[in-house]
Amino acid sequence: MRGIVLAGGLGTRLWPAATVLSKQLLPVYDKPMIYYPLSILMLAGIRDILVISSPDDLPLYRKLLEDGSAFGCDLSYCEQPRPEGLAQAFLLGEEFLDGDDAALALGDNIFYGSGIGGTVKHAAASVKPGAAICFAHRVRDPERYGVVEFDANGRAMSLEEKPEKPKSNYAIPGLYFYGRGVCDVAREVRPSARGELEITSLNRLYLDRDALMVTQLGRGVAWLDTGTPQSLLEAANFIHAVQTRQGQMVACLEEIAYLNGWIDRAQLMERADAIGNSAYGRYLSELAES
Ligand code: DAU
Repeated sequence: MRGIVLAGGLGTRLWPAATVLSKQLLPVYDKPMIYYPLSILMLAGIRDILVISSPDDLPLYRKLLEDGSAFGCDLSYCEQPRPEGLAQAFLLGEEFLDGDDAALALGDNIFYGSGIGGTVKHAAASVKPGAAICFAHRVRDPERYGVVEFDANGRAMSLEEKPEKPKSNYAIPGLYFYGRGVCDVAREVRPSARGELEITSLNRLYLDRDALMVTQLGRGVAWLDTGTPQSLLEAANFIHAVQTRQGQMVACLEEIAYLNGWIDRAQLMERADAIGNSAYGRYLSELAES
């Protein structure tokens, strides 16, 4: 399976903070926002990852993440000329995917919590050709998201993008797994009323074919939003609280790579030296010495 992180868009709700700098490069406490979705793909066991962003911002992602080898990944990069919708990731990423299964992570979605690694690993390993897996998480304000309605047996019945009158409190977070063939299905998606190739339209095509599984994330999983100044601050405070209390980092890419056996101790040390005397660098040194 290969992964895509979508890190384009205009981030207008974060202007002026994100006027000249891509939103997904803004820090969430101590690391750039894109580290969090990257870490989720890595926890799912995915190392071949395509970063998609705007022509202006893509060079900054290359500068930050390079070829990904420092954290055991193989990164590729692709421009999205205009933000024309999330499902466009599969039209832009078709060559990269080369017929493989695909996971899509939105560059501004953060997950943390009990069992999330096992959940995403299982999704990556179990999605079938022609099928899709996404998740549902209970929220107070479902009208801001893609919303799923379940039947009495917990099966998805309907999907709607930002409905005025949501049929449930279950939002679909920005993390999706597709079996082979997703690029062909993405070609069937037509622009929505707001002119975007919506991910919800893509997922509805799978639902109509009875090929969409929607897994509910339990209350032990935190799904954090970073779309507004307030939610960005709250996400940063959350990460700070967890890391300070536990003495363990959330979304430390080198740590995940090390624990996955993708980089060895010497590479970890080298990276710690390169990052230097920041809390992140010291954390890597301690990890290498432990
Ligand atoms: O966060 C989860 C929600 O993400 C889902 O529940 C919705 O179904 C889904 O449509 C999406 O809604 P948003 O309104 O949050 O999408 P937004 O336009 O903010 O884009 C999400 C991320 O993708 C953001 O980091 C910007 C980036 N993006 C967006 C578009 C439209 C791109 O890179 N390219 C694009 O063309």
